[in-house]
Amino acid sequence: MRLLMTLTLVLAATAAPAFAQDGAALFNAQCKSCHTLTGTNGPAGPSLKGVAGRKLAGSPGYAYSKALSAKGGSWGDAQLDAYLSAPAAFAPGTKMFNKVADPKTRTAIIAYLKTQK
Ligand code: HEC
Repeated sequence: MRLLMTLTLVLAATAAPAFAQDGAALFNAQCKSCHTLTGTNGPAGPSLKGVAGRKLAGSPGYAYSKALSAKGGSWGDAQLDAYLSAPAAFAPGTKMFNKVADPKTRTAIIAYLKTQK
């Protein structure tokens, strides 16, 4: 019984990091089909390299919607969070439809984007 409890504790401790959300993996699963982090635009969206702190619609050479290019301002945490939670509410008419419903997932993805300078 004691051994079983110890085992359970050890297992729980090793399994715990798997529950922490991995921004890179989330980005690869939910964003990479349309966005690169290399500075090259495409396949469907603008490059997100350096997007944190950048002006809205600021990736050179990308044909943004009017909704995003006319909005103004820059991508702070709050703007990124609002856009990812409801793109069409943040910028009605935006070409991006994908949303990230879970706030923790958004936070993890945004933290990862901030490392991609
Ligand atoms: C199906 C394609 C698609 C997916 C998947 C997608 N996006 Fe987008 N994204 C776009 C398009 C298209 C735009 C351009 C929007 C516009 O011009 O209105 C965009 C724009 C953006 C912008 C604005 C960038 C700028 O330069 O102003 C951010 C930030 C962004 N996406 C983040 C994300 C994140 C984070 C994910 C993953 C959770 C994601 N996107 C998933 C297509 C996509």
